[in-house]
Amino acid sequence: MKLTIIGTGYVGLVTGACFAEMGNNVTCVDIDQHKIAGLKKGVLPIYEPGLEPMVANNHKNGRLRFCTSLTDPAAKSNMYFIAVGTPPEEDGSADLQYVLGVAREIGRHITQHTIVVDKSTVPVGTADKVKAAIDDELAKRGAKVSFDVVSNPEFLKEGAAVEDFMRPDRVIIGTDSEQVRKVMRDLYLPFMRTHERLLFMGVRDAEMAKYAGNAMLATKISFMNEIANLCERLGVDVENVRNGIGSDSRIGYSFIYPGAGYGGSCFPKDVKALIRMAKDHDYEPKVLGAVEARNNAQKQVLFEKIRHRFGPNLKGLCFGVWGLAFKPGTDDLREASSVVLLNALIGAGASIKAYDPVAMQTARREFPRAWFDSNQLKLMDEQYQALEGADAMVLVTEWKPFRHPDFDRIRKIMKQAVVFDGRNQYDPALLRQAGFEYSGIGRATPDKINL
Ligand SMILES: NC(=O)c1ccc[n+]([C@@H]2O[C@H](COP(=O)([O-])OP(=O)(O)OC[C@H]3O[C@@H](n4cnc5c(N)ncnc54)[C@H](O)[C@@H]3O)[C@@H](O)[C@H]2O)c1
Repeated sequence: MKLTIIGTGYVGLVTGACFAEMGNNVTCVDIDQHKIAGLKKGVLPIYEPGLEPMVANNHKNGRLRFCTSLTDPAAKSNMYFIAVGTPPEEDGSADLQYVLGVAREIGRHITQHTIVVDKSTVPVGTADKVKAAIDDELAKRGAKVSFDVVSNPEFLKEGAAVEDFMRPDRVIIGTDSEQVRKVMRDLYLPFMRTHERLLFMGVRDAEMAKYAGNAMLATKISFMNEIANLCERLGVDVENVRNGIGSDSRIGYSFIYPGAGYGGSCFPKDVKALIRMAKDHDYEPKVLGAVEARNNAQKQVLFEKIRHRFGPNLKGLCFGVWGLAFKPGTDDLREASSVVLLNALIGAGASIKAYDPVAMQTARREFPRAWFDSNQLKLMDEQYQALEGADAMVLVTEWKPFRHPDFDRIRKIMKQAVVFDGRNQYDPALLRQAGFEYSGIGRATPDKINL
């Protein structure tokens, strides 16, 4: 098939590369000229395991092309995937200007029957707005072209995006058209050789399924963080509780890790957007509101522990921070817990040496210049360098190289042997035996820090 993917970010680039990998002819379009120029030279704008060779191979064999506008002949097709961002507005609602802008562009260009697939995460009812925008553009030029708008929300996880796309748990297709169902099945069947995992439903159902999925996962995380904070106050180790409840098959182990809060470009904004959708329909979403409030508070927990240990004025103290990305496997810093922590530490006068295996470039680009100029933030080339002379180590993102470090070496290079483990990666007893003061999330101990 000939496909055009509009928006070449995490979703668009992975979608384009994976469709090309299956033999389709794909053109990825992005208005960011710098991004497209880089991609044409094999430079990826994002880090995603397995993506670089896939993009390079398919670009080389001509199945994956890049351009900056739908007016480019390479972008002409009968199937357009909208994969642009839907960032939050002030009031929490999803900003649809990019999605609707693309819809208008499509309306200005199509000349024969077209399927428009919405892959961006969009509020219920957006497909109708996309349809209206295309209709409006067609009317402006007096063209009569038939088209279908389909909802095909994306469920890939950053850090495992290629794997998720190539072997999806399920693919949701929202459409009322039998013809579109056939085309979409044809397109996705190569990704599900063992058994079909396509779920067909109405367009609005599909739009809602995406939000409900992310909100459910965010709820599990916030619930567990609340339990963890309570454990800390009750003299309980939440890690035993986690194992105790995860073994119940009705609950399961995934998404019940206590930590420093969820971040990323999806959970925070999608929970917000769902809250907004509810309020717009005169419904007070009590659970979702609590999920968001717990998460905002949870992002402060590491700083509160640090303040409790070192006092309110952190001037003259240095913190070695391991992990900046919002989760392992990505260079994405959007809504990351590290950003909240660094803001608080720097605001309290501390200096920071930070290391992340892949998010350093993003950090250099996105953190305020003033943090670097004042020397309050130094990005280090190697994980142990970040701990040299530090008064405490703070683990924020649980990258694999941080899971089993050389604590003898760490004790020797740090100024004070204090560890704040924001992802419960370490065994408190072992660290204490090794001479560290240890504080995790929800792990009560004799020298517990009572928040
Ligand atoms: N990132 C994820 O893990 C993930 C997972 C599932 C769903 N989603 C959803 O997918 C959508 C895209 O997310 P993302 O993380 O890929 O976003 P992103 O910010 O990484 O990429 C969006 C891209 O769209 C481009 N763009 C904006 N307007 C354009 C236009 N008019 N024409 C062409 N390109 C344009 C931008 O330049 C950018 O490169 C969002 O709705 C998001 O919620 C994201």
